[in-house]
Amino acid sequence: MTQNPSAQPAQSPFPQASIHVATTSRSYPIWLQPGLLAQAGERLASLLPAKRAIVVADEAVWHRHGQALADNLAAAEFSFHILTVAGGEGSKSYSQLEQLLERALALAPDRQTAVIAFGGGVIGDLAGFAASILLRGLPFVQIPTTLLAMVDSSVGGKTGINSPHGKNLIGSFYQPHAVLIDPTVLTTLPHRQLLAGYAEVVKYGLIADPDFFAWLERHGAAALDGDAAKLCYIIERSCFHKAAIVGQDEREGGVRALLNFGHTLGHALEAALGYSDALLHGEGVAIGMVFATELSQHLGLIAPEVAKRVRQHLTAVGLPIDHRHLPAVAQDPQSLLTLMATDKKAVAGRLTFVLLDALGHALVQRDVPSATVSALLAVERVDGRCLAD
Ligand code: GLY
Repeated sequence: MTQNPSAQPAQSPFPQASIHVATTSRSYPIWLQPGLLAQAGERLASLLPAKRAIVVADEAVWHRHGQALADNLAAAEFSFHILTVAGGEGSKSYSQLEQLLERALALAPDRQTAVIAFGGGVIGDLAGFAASILLRGLPFVQIPTTLLAMVDSSVGGKTGINSPHGKNLIGSFYQPHAVLIDPTVLTTLPHRQLLAGYAEVVKYGLIADPDFFAWLERHGAAALDGDAAKLCYIIERSCFHKAAIVGQDEREGGVRALLNFGHTLGHALEAALGYSDALLHGEGVAIGMVFATELSQHLGLIAPEVAKRVRQHLTAVGLPIDHRHLPAVAQDPQSLLTLMATDKKAVAGRLTFVLLDALGHALVQRDVPSATVSALLAVERVDGRCLAD
């Protein structure tokens, strides 16, 4: 790591960072800097085996920001092709993967041709998986363009597509050669998407960094309102934690599982709603983090004050905190319990949650009693309050 984990600057002195991710399979930089798209070519030329690339881009993102990237790759004398893909979870399918592989193979890549993912989590997951199996593995670069992808999915090497049996069930761990983050692209990201990514930012504070959570309570809203330096800082701090965790546990045999904080209920809600726009992933995580924090309180692991702070902060920035305000299909406790018990992270149908035993410290708890979970699912939360308290 190029940073001291104990350093807690109120704000980065410079709105740029280079964080190093060191996993067993590959070590790579995360470059974070406003305007970085206009330097992508030189940066990548310094680290890729050849100046040949296939850019897999979200078609809407390409329309808005592609020219800056294309101009710079050309200026750095890259020979490259653009393959656009529709954004949205539907692109993480067998058919889209097959089309992408065939379109890429038609370009006659060799083993030094890099695949560059340019888009949000869907594009990163799809392009990363394609890179991992094309010619048994091509160099891969992530250029995330959503907050969620910048702070979570572009770092750590999880790639894949969905199956009719569930989300992300087909995939690989395949680390990129670099992650390039240009936060200026977030100015065109819809606010709802920005907020959804912010849920994953809050997650790092809750599981690993209480001072960061306190900083977010004071400054998170300003970052979301467009304060560029603060936005840069929350991306940097989040990537720092993500890098630290995947550096210890690349394949989720231990500490990486803590990144699933808020995801047990969050995933069940997404599944209940058919992964539709009714609930974005980060919104499900926000609701799930509130639920997991309250569960931690009910199991005597943390004081009620912690759960209150989590509810209040998420409410203050505009994230949802209660599944009971979602469509009816996501409200039935029995269906949610079944979905949580069959989640791919659950082992042998045991209800598994990541819980807090302090603000800034998490643990994996297996065999959480279903009666406790069910009772808590029946409770309503309004305006930052839990009506059971
Ligand atoms: N998004 C959770 C992980 O990368 O492990």
